[in-house]
Amino acid sequence: MYANGVRHFIDTQDFTQKEILDIIYLSLEIKKSIKAGYNPPLLKGKTLGMIFQQSSTRTRVSFETAMEQLGGHAQYLGPGMIQLGGHETIGDTGKVLSQLIDVVMARVIEHNTVVELAKSCSIPVMNAMSDYNHPTQEIGDMCTIVENLPRGKRLEDCKVVFVGDATQVCASLAMITTKCGMNFVHYGPKGHQLQDSPSAACLEKIKKNCEEYGGTFLSTDDREAVRGADFIYTDVWYGLYESEMPKEERVRVFGDYQVNRDLMSLGNIGCKFLHCLPATRGEEVTDEVADSESSLCWDEAGNRLTAMRGLLVYLTQYQRAAEPTELQKAAAKESLEKFMADRGIQ
Ligand code: CP
Repeated sequence: MYANGVRHFIDTQDFTQKEILDIIYLSLEIKKSIKAGYNPPLLKGKTLGMIFQQSSTRTRVSFETAMEQLGGHAQYLGPGMIQLGGHETIGDTGKVLSQLIDVVMARVIEHNTVVELAKSCSIPVMNAMSDYNHPTQEIGDMCTIVENLPRGKRLEDCKVVFVGDATQVCASLAMITTKCGMNFVHYGPKGHQLQDSPSAACLEKIKKNCEEYGGTFLSTDDREAVRGADFIYTDVWYGLYESEMPKEERVRVFGDYQVNRDLMSLGNIGCKFLHCLPATRGEEVTDEVADSESSLCWDEAGNRLTAMRGLLVYLTQYQRAAEPTELQKAAAKESLEKFMADRGIQ
């Protein structure tokens, strides 16, 4: 979305297919550059504010590392550490942060919080997961898929099957894969499919993606739909932060949807396993699959950093374009030095 003349990263659906592919390939190019020993100082002097209403490992660490590697700095604003939504409205928090830092990310409980924050901010706001979607995860997942395409296949030739509960990660994966013209299946139990979830609004967007970009979407409890998968993806059975149902109930509802060797065997030869993590081993995935040669979930976690670098560089490009020239910087230095000298300040 755009607000206050700034482009925010709230939903990948706000970006064209070309823009999404630009972000993915930019992320991969920066990864290549850093691996080769050149850390481009594209975020030099920039400060990222990291608002977390919930806990996180991958998102927090990857954002902070991305800023550091590209010459910037990150401030952790964890649960209860700032006034957001307590003593200060979301809108006022956004206006204040816009005066103090260059870019902000927020992991929120309710999607509307990050939307409201973006509406009030005059710096880019990045959605670091809400109850509706997880768009930074989407970019990292696509980087992993691009790096591991089956031999001779293009993105649009691939079938991605998400197995289990229709979490916000499932919704996000469905949106980005169909935006990239891919074939997406959600194999999950009735009552726990996207239309039953807080992300139900994504269905209309997925339909439009398929019409525009030629991909396909299927939501089903038929195990046969897993057949021919190039990538099998899963997520926890109870949402990321609190269990919505007791373990016995989870196992009863989702037990048939565990990603184990038997389910993986339905995929194509060379089918890869993905998981956004954290995983509840023994529930949605067995150790045997998570730790197998087919598992990409550790590379996928590494590509959270790949994605954060690309996204931060992409969203702050207008700030770099407006940076003062060397002449303007020299004039500012001279002016400050003269002021201090005139008043005898060292
Ligand atoms: N996948 C993911 O978002 O992980 P964290 O909750 O640890 O950030």
